[in-house]
Amino acid sequence: MSFFKSLFSTKPVNSSVRSATDLNRCLTGFDLTMLGVGAIIGAGIFVLTGIAAATQAGPAVVFSYLLAGVACGFSALAYAELASSVGGCGSAYGYAYASLGELIAWVIGWDLLLEYGMDGATVSIGWAGYVQEALRAVGVSLPSVFLNDPFHGGIVNLPAVLIIFALAWVLSIGARESARFNKIIVFIKLTVIALFIAIGLFHFDPAKWSPFLPFGLQGIVNGAGLIFFAYIGFDAVSTAADEAINPQRDLPRGIIASLIICTVIYVIFAALLTGMMYYPELNSSSPVANALIHIGYRFSAEVIALGAIAGLTTVILVMLFGASRIFLAMARDGLLPSYFEKVHEKSQTPRRLIWVLATIMAVTAGFLPINQVANLVNMGTLAAFAVVCSGVIVLRYTKPDMPRSFRTPGAPFVPLIGVLLCVYLMTSLPLITWYSFGVWTIIGVVIYFGYSRFNSLLSKTAFAV
Ligand code: ALA
Repeated sequence: MSFFKSLFSTKPVNSSVRSATDLNRCLTGFDLTMLGVGAIIGAGIFVLTGIAAATQAGPAVVFSYLLAGVACGFSALAYAELASSVGGCGSAYGYAYASLGELIAWVIGWDLLLEYGMDGATVSIGWAGYVQEALRAVGVSLPSVFLNDPFHGGIVNLPAVLIIFALAWVLSIGARESARFNKIIVFIKLTVIALFIAIGLFHFDPAKWSPFLPFGLQGIVNGAGLIFFAYIGFDAVSTAADEAINPQRDLPRGIIASLIICTVIYVIFAALLTGMMYYPELNSSSPVANALIHIGYRFSAEVIALGAIAGLTTVILVMLFGASRIFLAMARDGLLPSYFEKVHEKSQTPRRLIWVLATIMAVTAGFLPINQVANLVNMGTLAAFAVVCSGVIVLRYTKPDMPRSFRTPGAPFVPLIGVLLCVYLMTSLPLITWYSFGVWTIIGVVIYFGYSRFNSLLSKTAFAV
């Protein structure tokens, strides 16, 4: 096989996605759905809803949420199909390996490090900010050198580092325990959101919805681009493939159910927020607490902070969980050193990877000025979504008989629309994001040709197809 052709050789798909695994198959459909809700609802709903309403869409931010939810739905269907057929904990990396070949799979795996790692790191910085506020409210304040990275006049962002290592510890105990912890924290954040909704229903003022479309239809689209970040996370459900009790049935359900639940919550939340406070006044870093204070609920800032802290905690947890499983899949394929392949016998978790990734995430969050990299996370996510949608189309032609317990309706048109939507949203990101993404990809390609290419199990064996 020629060198060039071998770069695009694909990995055979297991006849059953329920293959043997040294991880613990203990997660139910409900656990998977809660993992999705844990990863999706984070800072976005509490911060971006207000900013998008004030600067992009006005009260029509409700439709921005609907639009972004539907756009993500195209990718969610593609994830659901490939999770139920190709399977494996590698998620988009594994699906690309089965459909588009090793080089693209590596690039996407490398790109997922950016998505999960940067998302976890930025969210932990947001977490540190909320915790700092909460501590200040009870009269405790940490020295500022331990609250800021060296680029912002400090030494280290200590709370961000500590939460990452604390969650790494939870994850290294076991998947069942991590899922239980996740469910408790998700319950807290959903309770806070329910409280907000209950209050909002009694203080909804239809006059605040006039004008409803101050920025026109284009405003709805621009708002959708901004709040896309709030939907990131449903793809992480697919990284639990080797720990799901019934992956063929429960992965598609978990992915789609978590996205639907969050879309409904987001739409109701956005409708009420813009009905409680006039949209131009929502342009702040804590629009939800401000709206509650505006209608007379003085305790609200603390309650909302609790919801946000809970929300952000599960986002970091699931991002670290997902990243460790994707890298486990890459190590098993020989693209990363075999040292990382080891799963701890008692806990049945990839402890080595969990701690190495937590350290990378903690160093990034604690010492680097990365507050503004949300766009890079959006870019990485959109690239992975586009590849997964393409994977559905390619596999329908190259492996038409592969068993699929979930089939994307309307394929190949539905996944094609998914690809086009992702590319469209990518083109709307700033040039600096494209440069940064390009540099990241080049580093990844250099590592591939310097190490992974020569250690790939696929290239060492004869079954390349
Ligand atoms: N979707 C996650 C959030 O809103 C990343 O924080």
